[in-house]
Amino acid sequence: MSGPNSDYDPVEVAALDPEVVESNVQAALAAIAAATTLEELKAARIAHAGDRSPLALANREIGALPPSARAEAGKRAGQARGRVSAALAERQAVLEAERDERILREEALDLTLPPGRRPLGHRHPLTVTAERMADVMVGMGWEIAEGPEVEAEWFNFDALNFDLDHPARQMQDTFFVEPADAGLVLRTHTSPVQARALLERGAPLYVAVPGKTFRTDELDATHTPVFHQVEGLAVDEGLTMAHLKGTLDRLAEELFGKGLTTRLRPAFFPFTEPSAEMDLVCFVCRGEDPGCRTCGGTGWIEWGGCGMVNQNVLRACGIDPARYQGFAFGMGVERSLMFRNGIADMREMIEGDVRFNSQFGREI
Ligand code: PHE
Repeated sequence: MSGPNSDYDPVEVAALDPEVVESNVQAALAAIAAATTLEELKAARIAHAGDRSPLALANREIGALPPSARAEAGKRAGQARGRVSAALAERQAVLEAERDERILREEALDLTLPPGRRPLGHRHPLTVTAERMADVMVGMGWEIAEGPEVEAEWFNFDALNFDLDHPARQMQDTFFVEPADAGLVLRTHTSPVQARALLERGAPLYVAVPGKTFRTDELDATHTPVFHQVEGLAVDEGLTMAHLKGTLDRLAEELFGKGLTTRLRPAFFPFTEPSAEMDLVCFVCRGEDPGCRTCGGTGWIEWGGCGMVNQNVLRACGIDPARYQGFAFGMGVERSLMFRNGIADMREMIEGDVRFNSQFGREI
């Protein structure tokens, strides 16, 4: 800032010289007009209207002028700064409007566009059915157990009290794994996990076993060589067939609806005694149509096998049959899905046609 000077002519202070002021204003207006973005305008504001701009510096010189000169110089500097800030405000408004319009344009959503048709993947209806069955049992406090699909013959047959000459041990029913003396089969049911669970966990025990099973069946509407079962095994003190029946009815009603109860028919399995086949009330006619094609007019459909655990099985697994009793059951998952959803042909379940699979909902 210049020092005080009594007969000072403001035109002699370079910064306040009208021509200098005017050229600074012109430079400012040119820079403001040239700014095409808000960032450029901000730079122009700092350069031409900021604290260190020529016009601000000129304004500061006013105090150094003799009093008589201050008014006119002040007016000139003030007007100059006023023109610049008016131009800034005007340009700011224009650039902001441009920016807002650009954002609206760039971020516009066309709500009439069709959505992306990329269907979500989902689990196979057989997997969902097996899990639903196991879930009901977990809801009753049972645990899940699993075992290998390539199983030791001992677990698949011997531990389960199969005689050496039992027909299931013949080649025509069972897939044996090479070499022939390896003692390995593709498990023909989920029952070997009964023995595994008993040996691993001991009694008392309540386990549900969902799993894949194999038999040398030809593929047709009601058979497939690879199928699925859900096994149940309960071993505890004081268990009776009433507990078995109650558990089956509960499972059936949870899966298929109220009133769809089970009935037991005498049967034979080496690992249960007594043994039974369990039937479900026909899901189509509920036992009321003698001409029903689904149940053949009997009112019942076979669902699986069950029984009280044979004492030989308990013994083979180190459980004292004098103290513990057990019941077990195993049902086909394919059959359950057929009942639940009225599917006539099992082959549809394994063909992998997404139009079939996606009819059952997309549970993930
Ligand atoms: N494992 C038998 C089958 O596959 C079913 C079954 C399970 C029977 C448990 C009795 C007890 O046919």
